[in-house]
Order: sequence, then structure tokens, then C-alpha cells
Amino acid sequence: MEFTIKAGSPEKLKSDCVVVGVYAGSDLTASAKALDKAADGAITALVARGELDDKVGATLMLHDLPGIAAPRVLLVSLGKADELTDKSYRDAVGAAAKQLAGSVAADAAFILTETELPHRDLAWRISQAAQILKDSTYRCDELKSKREESKKGVKKVVFIAKAKDTAPLEAALRRGTAIAEGMALAKTLGNLPGNVCTPTYLATTARKLAKDHKIKVEVLEKGDMEKLGMGALLSVARGSHEPPKFIILNYKGGKAKDKPVVLVGKGITFDSGGLSLKSTEGMFDMKYDMSGAACVLGAIKAIAKLGEEINVIGLIPATENMPGGSSIKPGDIVTSMSGSTIEILNTDAEGRIILADALSYSKLFNPEYVIDVATLTGATVIALGTKRAALFTNSSELQEALTKAANNSNDFCWSMPLDDEYFENLSTNFADMANVGPPEGSFGASAYFLSRFTQDVKWAHLDITGVAWQRGKDKRSTGRPTPLLIQFLIDHCNAKKP
Ligand code: BES
Ligand code: MN
Ligand code: ZN
Repeated sequence: MEFTIKAGSPEKLKSDCVVVGVYAGSDLTASAKALDKAADGAITALVARGELDDKVGATLMLHDLPGIAAPRVLLVSLGKADELTDKSYRDAVGAAAKQLAGSVAADAAFILTETELPHRDLAWRISQAAQILKDSTYRCDELKSKREESKKGVKKVVFIAKAKDTAPLEAALRRGTAIAEGMALAKTLGNLPGNVCTPTYLATTARKLAKDHKIKVEVLEKGDMEKLGMGALLSVARGSHEPPKFIILNYKGGKAKDKPVVLVGKGITFDSGGLSLKSTEGMFDMKYDMSGAACVLGAIKAIAKLGEEINVIGLIPATENMPGGSSIKPGDIVTSMSGSTIEILNTDAEGRIILADALSYSKLFNPEYVIDVATLTGATVIALGTKRAALFTNSSELQEALTKAANNSNDFCWSMPLDDEYFENLSTNFADMANVGPPEGSFGASAYFLSRFTQDVKWAHLDITGVAWQRGKDKRSTGRPTPLLIQFLIDHCNAKKP
């Protein structure tokens, strides 16, 4: 989908479809009023007759109204004018996107962005709308033998906005588009099955990114990991026939002296649980256990596309977690890259084991911040559901910045405690720490385990098990929290500018 911005009167727009908002109680927005006037009150009459539901996101497509240049007008309910929220705006845009996707109109003039929202400027509204509209065209059908080719659907959208200086709006448009593209990559990787999206596939994807953008990629093989002493990561890979990969992406948009932000993504391309084998149902969706890695790839793709002046490193420890004759066994003790020893009591708590080595490796970059993103525990879904990712951090600065970025990108998280007491759960007679403790407090212990490998850096951990995957009949990868990561990086970059 292509986007542009221009000014224009709604009734004169030469477009296949004009999209405008209507508030509850037959209260027309400015553009709807302009159309209504040109059409001799036709819209008022239809709305007064109750043809358009008052509920946010209800739509009504009108055809061939007199006095209006465009052959279609799509009315979208915004709810009550004084009750508008980010969510109602996004829902209304989403509903419009759905209608446009199924319409024979090839292009549309989009004026919903004129909707005033508390604390949100036009740039934000345009960026969100671009993201939602582009995201609505996402498909993952590459593995179907017959793809449904739909000729329907709007291909070009013009945002109608009056502004003296359109540069900030153009920038917002580019940002929204880049976020949607980053999300699309993350979604596709999450949706692809484990027999396609292997550690090698992730490495190939990273190499492709490097070819198309200003990103450098290095992939460490098993032998390299051995030399580095990554005994933790390698222990998880032992049961699998797929070779593990340690992927390093390096985007240098900032000055050479700027410390990088390091993003670390869990890249378990299939989590069977290992010898602590999961149940059949427990394994159903375990192809999405590389969603952290997928978001890191998506976020770095977007940042590189936008050419942000910031240095970002992406680290992806990638492997399968499988049972086999060489698998690690409960009770085995391994030595991580940091030198700490880990007693592996449950081979299904593998995410923290591979992240331990990736977090140790992140220190080589002298980072400003380290943020890991991982589908680490089922407990996250119980605690927070699917709306918010769990945020654990040792830095109030990061807590504030990530929370702000989450709220601005509509990709939410919630802070969880990182108390020392959680570590007591992981004590063992035989090694420096165990990888699991008793079930009480296991959520906190999972994050505390990671914190042992990030002691001297400002670090945050996002447990994304709930937000990364939509459950149920229409199950699929959501691409989250790619928008949050991108927003955080953009904010960080802007904060540095004089
Ligand atoms: N990848 C899983 C977490 C997960 C659970 C992702 C459900 C998606 C849906 C992780 O590796 C895992 O198995 N965690 C265990 C930890 C436990 C053994 C301490 C869990 O949450 O059950
Ligand atoms: Mn597991
Ligand atoms: Zn896992």
C-alpha cells in the first residue's frame, strides 16, 4: 500500500473513496459536514435514519452521492466526541482498513486522521493510521499450494491534511510504514513452521537484511561458540540435528563513539521442552518461541530503513530445543560464557540458558542499554494476559523510557519486581545456580536468573509470551513488541539530538 499526503476539500477529491468520521448521536466531523453540505444533506438524513451504528468502528459505505466528486464515501463511527481515546481511534481506523481491503475502490482519500485526540498530534495520528492500514494488508500464505489472488482492495491512500509544513507529517508517514514493515517481517518469521524457520533460516534472513540495508551481519557457528565458551547455549543445542547459530547484526547509524543499544532476541525455533518434554497440546504453538528474535530483526530492519542516527546491535542465539541421545539431562551442570555454572533441572526452561550466554556476549559492545526480548514463561500469560508484555529491569531510566515508548506505540508493557529474594529459589548445592526453582515465584525467578548475567549494565527483559501470539481459532503471530522496540530506539535517538 502506498501513501501520500495532500490538502483538499472532501467533496472535490478525485478519489475512488473518501473516508470520514461520524461521532455518536449523528454528530458529523468537519469533513463529513462538508460532504453533507455538498450532497444537500444526504448524509445527515441517512445517519438520522439510523443507517450507521453509533458503536466505535461501525461503518457505512455510500455510493454516488450527488455533489461529491468521489463515487464512494465511507462513514466510520468514532463513538462519542468527548470520549475519544487512542483505542477508539485505532479501532475506527482498523474498521475502515477492513472495509477498504474488501472494496473494489483502488485508492482512497483518508480523512479520519483529522479526529482530535487528547495528547496526540496529527503526526501521531497519521503514523498510527499508516501502520494500521499497511498492517491490514499483511498475509502469510506463502506455504499454501494455491494462493487466493484478490483483485480487490485499496492500493493507494492519500491522507488529507492541511499543514504549512508537511515535513513532520511525511516523517510520521515513513515511520508508520517502517513499523508495519518491521512487524510484517516479525510476523512472518513467527508464523513460519519450525521445519522452515530453523536457526539457519534466521541466519539467512539476517544476511538478506544486511544485503538490502546498511547493516552488517556476522553468524557464529558451533565451533565459534565453543571457542567463546558458550557452554550454556551449546548445551540446549545438543539434542537437535539443526546446527545452532549465533547471529550478530550491527547497524551503525550513529557516531562511532556513540554506545550502542543491544537488543537480544530468544531464537528457539522449536521448543519441544527437550527431555523435560512438553505435552502434545503444550507443543502446538512452539514454533513461535523465536518471536523475540523475530522482533529484533523487525526492529533493526525498520531503524535501518528510516536511517535513524543511532547504533544498534542485534544478538540472536538460535537453536532448537529437542530430546535426543545427546540432549542435556536434568541434573547436568554446564559452564556459561560468564564462567558461572548452571545446574539444569528442567530442560524446558531453556530460554534463560541460551540468553545467559547472549547477555554475557552483549557486554563486549560496551552498550548503553541491553534489552532482551523473549517468550520465556507461560506464567506471563497468566499474570498479564495478551495485552501487556512483562517488563523487568535493573534501571529506572530504562523502565521509564520503555513504558513511555510502549504507551506511545500502543504496544503495552507492565513493570514487574526484580527482588533479590527471587534468587534464593535458584540456589543449589551443586552449581552457582539452578535454572529453575519451586513453582512459587518462578516468574520473578526467571527474570532474576537473567539479571545474574547483566550485572554491570543497564538492562531490561521483556517477557513477550502473551503479546507475541494471538491464541484461539485465528491463531497467528502478532509481530509485537516490534513497535515498542522501534519507538524506544527512535525516542533514544531523538533524546540525544541537541
Ligand atoms: N517457550 C516456553 C514459554 C512458553 C510457554 C511460550 C507457553 C509460549 C507459550 C519456555 O521455554 C518454557 O517452556 N517455559 C517454562 C518454564 C518452566 C519450565 C519453569 C514454562 O513457562 O512452563
Ligand atoms: Mn521451554
Ligand atoms: Zn522456550
